[in-house]
Amino acid sequence: MRPGARPDVGPPPRFITSEPRLGFGAWAVGGRSWGATGDAAERESAIRRALERGITFFDTAPTYGDGESERLLGRALRAHRERVAIATKVGPHDDPRASLEGSLRRLASAYVDLIQLHEALGRWEWSLEGLLKLQEEGKALAIGLCNATHLQIARATELAPLASYQGPYNLFDRDVEQRELPLCRERGLAFLAYRPLASGLLAGTYGKPPEFPAGDHRRNIYWFRGQEFERRRRVVERLRPLAERLELPLPALALAWVLAQPGVGIVLAGARNASQVDENLSGARRLTPATLAEIDAIVADVFRPARATDAAMRQATTWGERERFIVERLDGRTAYEAIAAAWTDRGDKPMIAAQVKVFVDQLRDQGLVEAEG
Ligand SMILES: NC(=O)c1ccc[n+]([C@@H]2O[C@H](COP(=O)([O-])OP(=O)(O)OC[C@H]3O[C@@H](n4cnc5c(N)ncnc54)[C@H](OP(=O)(O)O)[C@@H]3O)[C@@H](O)[C@H]2O)c1
Repeated sequence: MRPGARPDVGPPPRFITSEPRLGFGAWAVGGRSWGATGDAAERESAIRRALERGITFFDTAPTYGDGESERLLGRALRAHRERVAIATKVGPHDDPRASLEGSLRRLASAYVDLIQLHEALGRWEWSLEGLLKLQEEGKALAIGLCNATHLQIARATELAPLASYQGPYNLFDRDVEQRELPLCRERGLAFLAYRPLASGLLAGTYGKPPEFPAGDHRRNIYWFRGQEFERRRRVVERLRPLAERLELPLPALALAWVLAQPGVGIVLAGARNASQVDENLSGARRLTPATLAEIDAIVADVFRPARATDAAMRQATTWGERERFIVERLDGRTAYEAIAAAWTDRGDKPMIAAQVKVFVDQLRDQGLVEAEG
């Protein structure tokens, strides 16, 4: 780790803790991209409730509601600025200085606690250098990275005093367990888990594939439709009795699962109103190892890795390199996350388990795999 890197984010020292904690994900309160937009007062009340209930970490981005998320955070948090940490982002194609200065105006703050590069794309190393200058000027207290491969995270730690990495993590989407989480532990980076509720699916409110309104980004998320939706729905139905037994709302159980995973620092739970915040906060509690094992067993039972048939193996010899790479590893045991990580290790275009799942579903439709997977 570079000198000056901070393993925790937020105003020191009262936020430095070895315990994982729940943060507030402020995408949904931005309104746009999240379906029927509730009124601004209702969305702002979600932020105020989070603050009242002791949440001290707020994650946003200039793109969330085209600045609306930052504006609402600015209004709700201004009087409490010293008590909270605000993290925002810079797009990979945006000018870091212009972007952060716009964020600071909307946030009504002279600094952010954490500035994160939203995605490691294009000339991302240059963007990181730009963030470093802004940190040196005191406009950001710490620098973080989102949506990168482990190879990029490792490189980033050589370029800047990186404090955190933010990636998707919930009990279905577990790519980060393969490489990124262990790397964060090894390099002392805070790991921030996003989409801990699988964009709302783990709240258990969707019994059938939802029809999101036009403009809702979830229309494009593959787990809200087809075979993946059905598998996730089966898991959710089996988690329900467990949540009831523990007297926890289902979304709280899902958040508690993420909070319990080794190496997780802050779990960014999105919420569009105050009652969702209240419900989610009941998840900030410790699950026993037996409960965690029970949840993992339910997920593993529904998501069994597929085995390629002999016909698939034969046909794959004429397919592209990525498809062949996957088929050769479909042995009924190897997790899709492990297949994707092994491909990404090569340093080519990265792969995630979701791509393996979608491809395996296509093979299943053609009778080219055995087992449920
Ligand atoms: N760095 C990145 O690229 C990136 C990407 C995504 C997210 N993030 C960050 O991570 C945060 C969390 O991710 P996310 O907001 O996308 O997804 P999420 O936290 O998995 O899901 C949030 C959504 O779940 C539903 N929900 C939450 N609590 C609920 C409850 N108690 N009962 C019923 N439904 C509930 C709400 O949507 P409905 O009511 O509409 O169902 C809410 O907007 C974001 O806000 C953002 O800060 C970062």
